[in-house]
Amino acid sequence: MTTSTPVSTPFTAESTALEVIQGIDLTGRRAVVTGGGSGIGVETARALASAGADVTLAVRNPDQGRRAADDITATTGNDRILVAPLDLADQGSVAAFVATWDGPLHILVNNAGIMASPEMRTPQGWEMQFATNHLGHFALATGLHRALAAAGGARVVSVSSAAHLRSPVVFEDIHFRERPYEPWAAYGQSKTANVLFAVEATRRWADDGILTNALMPGAIRTNLQRYVSEEDLARLRAASGGSAAPAWKTVEQGAATSVLVATSPLLDGVGGRYFEDCQEAGPNQPGTRTGYAPYALDPEAAQRLWEVSEETLRG
Ligand SMILES: NC(=O)c1ccc[n+]([C@@H]2O[C@H](COP(=O)([O-])OP(=O)(O)OC[C@H]3O[C@@H](n4cnc5c(N)ncnc54)[C@H](OP(=O)(O)O)[C@@H]3O)[C@@H](O)[C@H]2O)c1
Repeated sequence: MTTSTPVSTPFTAESTALEVIQGIDLTGRRAVVTGGGSGIGVETARALASAGADVTLAVRNPDQGRRAADDITATTGNDRILVAPLDLADQGSVAAFVATWDGPLHILVNNAGIMASPEMRTPQGWEMQFATNHLGHFALATGLHRALAAAGGARVVSVSSAAHLRSPVVFEDIHFRERPYEPWAAYGQSKTANVLFAVEATRRWADDGILTNALMPGAIRTNLQRYVSEEDLARLRAASGGSAAPAWKTVEQGAATSVLVATSPLLDGVGGRYFEDCQEAGPNQPGTRTGYAPYALDPEAAQRLWEVSEETLRG
């Protein structure tokens, strides 16, 4: 069972991942961070490593992953940082990662993602942002379910975004076969899927001791903006926050909510929720770009997405 009291913490938007994890001991715990070779993923992995966890960086570029692992070892003194190949857009690669995983898994951080890419499709014809951000992580987490259950108290972290406010999952045409492709609608849809995954995974897996929550890391300058021009970025930020557009966070601050959700005792017994700025978020208020969209925490949509995802992966 999960508890229902909203979670509040002493941390803020300015807190860093290392501040959030202070005093937490992860010795003997094993963690996987997807996209752990860059951006928020590196700082998430660094914080977990600093607390003594064995961390696997699941990356599509092993050289980048190795450099990140060496850097994490140099800064934390933890040399149990592994690098494993994972391309979330390639179900064969996800299956290979799952097949080589052995033993319990205590923390899975589904962090990797792409944003607002031009129209791209996998060989199956799946829209690339949905395929990478949702379907790849769905296959990974369900493939690792046994390992998560074996941990006897695992956490799964689903890195979403405030961009989920841009679109529900459009079940009638998830892959933009009938409607014109729109990069931000596709990103928003995939990020809503990340929240819905947390809802349904918790319903299905809480009795196995596996709790999943979703989060918005904040706005952080990383490679994620590779498909977005500076002009578009400025325009979008102004539109979303007016003159009070949120300040960019550092990557260390950007990783804080992921690390909180992955490790804080304040979240014991908590699953299927949405966090931002190190707090559980309330519902979105009109005219703002914070909080959750009710469609993202809708249990029926969450169940439907799970079933559709299973069907899609079966082919
Ligand atoms: N930065 C922000 O402002 C912001 C805001 C809201 C939410 N987020 C979320 O935060 C997460 C981390 O993003 P970030 O800002 O740290 O950006 P980032 O530095 O670009 O990190 C994303 C990571 O995902 C990896 N990735 C992309 N496609 C992949 C695939 N097919 N298979 C495996 N890995 C793949 C990237 O690998 P490569 O290096 O090989 O491309 C990269 O390491 C994302 O889920 C993003 O949606 C970020």
